[in-house]
Amino acid sequence: MRTRSVISFLIVLLASLMATGCNADRAPTAGAAQEPKVASPPPLQISPVLPNGSALLVQKGERVATLLGCLGCHGKDLHGKTWVDEPEFAVLYSSNLTRAVSHYDDAQLERAIREGVRYDGSPLWEMPSDSFLHLSAPDMEALIAYLRSVPPGGTEYPRMVLGPVGKKEIQEGLLTPTTHAVARTRHIVPVFAGEENAWGRYLAQTICSECHGPALRGNPGADSSRPDLIAAASYSLDDFKNLLKTGQPTGNRKLGLMAKVSQSRFSHLTEPEVSAIHAYLVARAAVQR
Ligand code: HEC
Ligand code: HEC
Repeated sequence: MRTRSVISFLIVLLASLMATGCNADRAPTAGAAQEPKVASPPPLQISPVLPNGSALLVQKGERVATLLGCLGCHGKDLHGKTWVDEPEFAVLYSSNLTRAVSHYDDAQLERAIREGVRYDGSPLWEMPSDSFLHLSAPDMEALIAYLRSVPPGGTEYPRMVLGPVGKKEIQEGLLTPTTHAVARTRHIVPVFAGEENAWGRYLAQTICSECHGPALRGNPGADSSRPDLIAAASYSLDDFKNLLKTGQPTGNRKLGLMAKVSQSRFSHLTEPEVSAIHAYLVARAAVQR
């Protein structure tokens, strides 16, 4: 897959060089339109090939949903569940996605996932779209195909109901919708560490940023402290594989949330994906101080 991406990138690059006479900054678009556009490689993506060798879009989408934690918050059956139940503050459910999707066309669904905007234009709450903002087109396509493949079941929940404390926190700017988080972090990305690590960078950006932050620099403000992923650079590849498969860190320690999400989510990563993330995090530690 990677080799093919690189080859088609080179073909695109070559074609652009031939057409523009070495002006590589301005790759021609398909038509004659004079749109200045930098030649870009094919989009990076979560591996479309499943461990059993098949490459079905819906099954890939289920893996994307697992790795990104959609199933953790919306439930294994996507039926949603009680998310916050503190009437003084707020009552909020993680939506029943099997029923919600019928309100959305694909573009609206993409906007909900990436930007945290509901089909009617209202903002979502507590939905971590800021970490899905940079999902590539093939990953988004597979994810939407999977969401639409699950037969509707369960009940549709009401929208968030705010109590007096929640209303006050909104007035004070302490409680903000997902759209704010997206606007705040839109331009924060993990440091570049060479084209050879672009795939690992993409995987870490989409799969690890929810907790370790958009630049993977950690998230000290969070309820449990999440380290800068520089912490991973001291892991050998074998120890790193073991961490993501079982949740067991190096040394005689036990982790909390990280152990849980390793078992439920990251154990579904393929070996090449884990190796690519590791290689990127090691390279990143060398370029980032
Ligand atoms: C940390 C928990 C969490 C994760 C992870 C998460 N969601 Fe959500 N999501 C929520 C909550 C809570 C809501 C309800 C927001 C509201 O009603 O304001 C929601 C709402 C949504 C909606 C709007 C549905 C509606 O009611 O109109 C969509 C679509 C959605 N999520 C898709 C996804 C997908 C796809 C993923 C994985 C890529 C995902 N979510 C991951 C918590 C989460
Ligand atoms: C749902 C939240 C969450 C996600 C997503 C997440 N982590 Fe973590 N991670 C944590 C937390 C929290 C800690 C701190 C230890 C703990 O409380 O479990 C941690 C700690 C770590 C550590 C330090 C382990 C040590 O030796 O102490 C590494 C390395 C790490 N994470 C790597 C990753 C990688 C790589 C990804 C993406 C594949 C990832 N994490 C995604 C929550 C998360």
